[in-house]
Amino acid sequence: MCGIVGYVGNKDASEVLISGLSRLEYRGYDSAGISVLHDGELTVKKAAGRLKNLEEKLQEEKVHGHMGIGHTRWATHGAPLDKNSHPHNSNNGKISVVHNGIIENYMEVKERLQGLGYVFYSDTDTEVIPNLVDYYYSGNLLEAVKKAAADLKGSYALGVMALNEPDKIVATRKDSPLVVGVGDKEYFIASDVPAVLNYTKSFVYLNDGEFAELCKDSLQFFNQDGEQIEREVTEITWSAESAEKGGYAHFTIKEIYEQPKALKDTMTGRIVPGKKVKLDDIHITKEMLEDYSRIYIIACGTAYNAGLIGKVAIENLARIPVEVDVASEFRYRNPIIDAKTLVIVISQSGETADTLAVSREAQKFGARVIAITNVVGSSIAREADDVFYTWAGPEIGVASTKAYLTMLVAIYSIGIYFAELLGTQQESYLENLKKELLTLPEKVASIIADTTRIEHFADKIHTEKDVFFLGRGLDYQIAVEASLKLKELSYIHSEAYPGGELKHGSIALIEDDITVIASLTQRDLLEKMQSNIKEVVSRGAKVMAITFEDNHDVEHFSDEVIIIPNTMDLIAPILAVVPLQLLAYYVALYKGLDVDKPRNLAKSVTVE
Ligand code: F6R
Repeated sequence: MCGIVGYVGNKDASEVLISGLSRLEYRGYDSAGISVLHDGELTVKKAAGRLKNLEEKLQEEKVHGHMGIGHTRWATHGAPLDKNSHPHNSNNGKISVVHNGIIENYMEVKERLQGLGYVFYSDTDTEVIPNLVDYYYSGNLLEAVKKAAADLKGSYALGVMALNEPDKIVATRKDSPLVVGVGDKEYFIASDVPAVLNYTKSFVYLNDGEFAELCKDSLQFFNQDGEQIEREVTEITWSAESAEKGGYAHFTIKEIYEQPKALKDTMTGRIVPGKKVKLDDIHITKEMLEDYSRIYIIACGTAYNAGLIGKVAIENLARIPVEVDVASEFRYRNPIIDAKTLVIVISQSGETADTLAVSREAQKFGARVIAITNVVGSSIAREADDVFYTWAGPEIGVASTKAYLTMLVAIYSIGIYFAELLGTQQESYLENLKKELLTLPEKVASIIADTTRIEHFADKIHTEKDVFFLGRGLDYQIAVEASLKLKELSYIHSEAYPGGELKHGSIALIEDDITVIASLTQRDLLEKMQSNIKEVVSRGAKVMAITFEDNHDVEHFSDEVIIIPNTMDLIAPILAVVPLQLLAYYVALYKGLDVDKPRNLAKSVTVE
């Protein structure tokens, strides 16, 4: 997730762009850059790191002009270095581009352009775009962008300028957001409304496949077929602060709602029906895999909870024994690590001190390390032998939501990748699994579309002191994550138990009116889990159950039932956890707590 902004009008473009980028920094802070038509050139200034680095550079190297585009980067392809920062210009310096999204077929396009003599200087997917537009350019920028867009697969929001057409920006989008700001003899583009809200309150929300041509004195819209279309202007009434959260009250809920997009992005180009899973940054061969006697998955907090599911998924798919541990325990327990060990470390931030230490220690003993992380160029990513970037976009809410869901996708992808290398599963089963994974963004969207029942239940339990989560099989791993989410967001004490374990002691805590939240998504364990629920109901518990569409029995002994769409049991956690994230969020809201910054917690824990 990056942020883009563009301006054409009479103001100083650099000032408008920097102001816009400062309001988009929440979308990415790996680097920032602008391109301004200045002194007859498309002058690009960019700097790795936070926006202030670019601002300092611009103090020394001023650029003045009335048209420009800007970008704040959340790295996906290529480390956060100057050379990978946007904007990117075509080889001849005549086309300048900012891009938010992921170009899935960039390698293919790059090779084609290299064959035509174009040279590439960055590791990004984006750099193909200015050169592709340049290739098609013959005096009409709109036409060239249209032709280039037709060659691109993946997601993009683009702002494009041509040296030969001053005072014109062409913008288009597919699966990445883009708005056009309408001013008086000035126009803007931005990934998000807050970027330019202090200049205009009038916006057009560009639809997928549409093009906008912004000139100083005119604004025109075109559909995919090149026909001019009328677009409705929306007047924004939000404040700049709420606009930054996309109109949501908190980043946490915004990020929960971003999950369908985050899941889709994580699978983009990796999981394709009819094809083997493609993991560009993992270089493990069948022979290497056959040599590993065990896999360790090591992480902290929510990332550890994702690892618990990873164990079940990888053992089931690849039939290699997997052990999961929290990093702060693992490093001090003298674990058995050698060259026959594969270690998977999971970390949203890629900077968690204990997880990083485990990665280093494991390499020292000869193990190979795969990192699953959301932050390109983070310490954990840089030091690992192989990387899976989750492409969830920046997560600002301290409680992890969308990063967790995309970690699960990472784990399933790696599991399928291993199974395909080793031949441990029937191809038809793996094909079904891939197809089903691709349906999950839509299924998650259907869960978050109506939160009425969850809000109602949150209201009912927000004054509780203790809550129990129950599950068997993968439902237990979900219970563990749901319990952590409730604790950290609402400060209610909660415990997660495997359904069958409760009667070995903890059932003594079940008394009249205690809340038990049960997850029932594993078909083989359904009857056993239903018996466990009856055990707590008969001791006075009130039960909220999460289950799939065609399980009607549970209604008879639960006070509340939340239905999630049907899916394959192995990947059901991706759906089952979503109502429970929402529950934790709404309970915290009812309690009037600071949801985005729960007490005592930090987003990145860089100390032991
Ligand atoms: C909980 C949460 C934390 C982190 C943990 C590890 O919602 O966010 O438990 O999961 O601190 O952080 P990363 O994934 O950055 O290593």
